[in-house]
Amino acid sequence: MARTLVISNRKGGSGKSSTAVNVAAELAAQGQRVLLVDLDTQGHCAVGLGVKPQRDMPTVHGFLAGRHDLRQAVVASSWPGLHLIPADPLFEHGGVGGNEAMLRQALVAEGLLADYDTVVLDTPPSLDGLLINALCAADRVLVPFVPHYLSGEGVRQLARLLFRVASRGLNEQLKVLGFLPVMVDLRIGQHREVNASLSHQFGAARLLPGIRNDIKVAEAFAVGKPVRVHAPGSRAAADFAAAALLIDKFWLYARRRLTMTPVSPDACCATPAPTQTPDANPAQARDPQGSHPYSRT
Ligand SMILES: Nc1ncnc2c1ncn2[C@@H]1O[C@H](COP(=O)(O)OP(=O)(O)OP(=O)(O)O)[C@@H](O)[C@H]1O
Ligand SMILES: [Mg+2]
Repeated sequence: MARTLVISNRKGGSGKSSTAVNVAAELAAQGQRVLLVDLDTQGHCAVGLGVKPQRDMPTVHGFLAGRHDLRQAVVASSWPGLHLIPADPLFEHGGVGGNEAMLRQALVAEGLLADYDTVVLDTPPSLDGLLINALCAADRVLVPFVPHYLSGEGVRQLARLLFRVASRGLNEQLKVLGFLPVMVDLRIGQHREVNASLSHQFGAARLLPGIRNDIKVAEAFAVGKPVRVHAPGSRAAADFAAAALLIDKFWLYARRRLTMTPVSPDACCATPAPTQTPDANPAQARDPQGSHPYSRT
C-alpha cells in the first residue's frame, strides 16, 4: 500500500516542483516504485523528467474532468521505478467538480496505491479544487520554502489551510511531514532568521536540513533530468539524497496531527536555531511544539 506525499506551499516559486521531481527520483533510486502526479497545469514535472507532452495524451486533469480513468494517464520515465501522471497545460483551474475526494478514490479504486510504494503529488500555488484534491489524497505534506520573510507567511497560510482540511473532516489522516528550506545559503542572515522563526513556530523537529542554492537544480530541469543524474557530484544532489532518506524518519515521526492554538505575538524569533532531525534531539522529538502556535494532540 503506497504512502502518499503532497508537496505544497501557497507561495509560487518556493521549490515545489524541484522538490517533487528530485525527491521522487531519489526514492526511485533507493529501489522504491514511485508515482509522481503533477496537479499543476504548468506541467513542470514532465519537463523535469524529460517527458514530452503528446497531443490529447491522458493527464491527471483529464481524469478530474471525467474524460478517462486515472491509470490511463500513467507514463514511464527514463528511470527505473519512476512513473509520472502528467498535467494538462490547457486545463482551466475552475474545471474541477465538487468532489474533493475524487483523486483519493481513484488512487484506491484503480489499484494505484497497491502498485507503488510512494505517490508524490506536486501542487499548484493556487487555492482551488486541484490543491484540495491533492490534500485530500495525501497522508503527509512536505512544505518546501525559500527562507525569505514573505515565504514564512506563505507557510503560515498553508498551515491554516491544512487545519481547515483536517477540521472539516476532508482528510483527518493528513499530517505535516516537515518543512524543507530550499535555495538555502546560511551565510545570509535572513535565511538563518526565517529558518529560526519557522523552527520556533512549528517545532525544530519538523524542519528538515535544506537544499542549498545550486544552479544545477535549474540546469537539470532544462535538460529534463533529475539533478542526481544531471549533476551527481553537486551539492543539490547530495542534499536531495539526504532529504529523501530523512523523509522515511520524518514519516514515522509525524504521527499526530496539527491542531491550532492562538498565535502568540512573539512567535517569530530572530535567534538562529539549529535544524535538527527527531533523532538528533530526542527531547524535542517528544515535545517539539512546546507552547507554539500549532501544537499537536
Ligand atoms: N536549490 C535550488 N537552487 C537554485 N535554484 C533552485 C533551487 N530549487 C529551485 N530552484 C529554482 O527556483 C525556481 C522555482 O522552483 P520551482 O519551479 O521548483 O518552484 P515551484 O514552487 O514549483 O513554483 P510554482 O509555484 O510556480 O509551481 C526554478 O527556476 C528552480 O530551478
Ligand atoms: Mg511548480
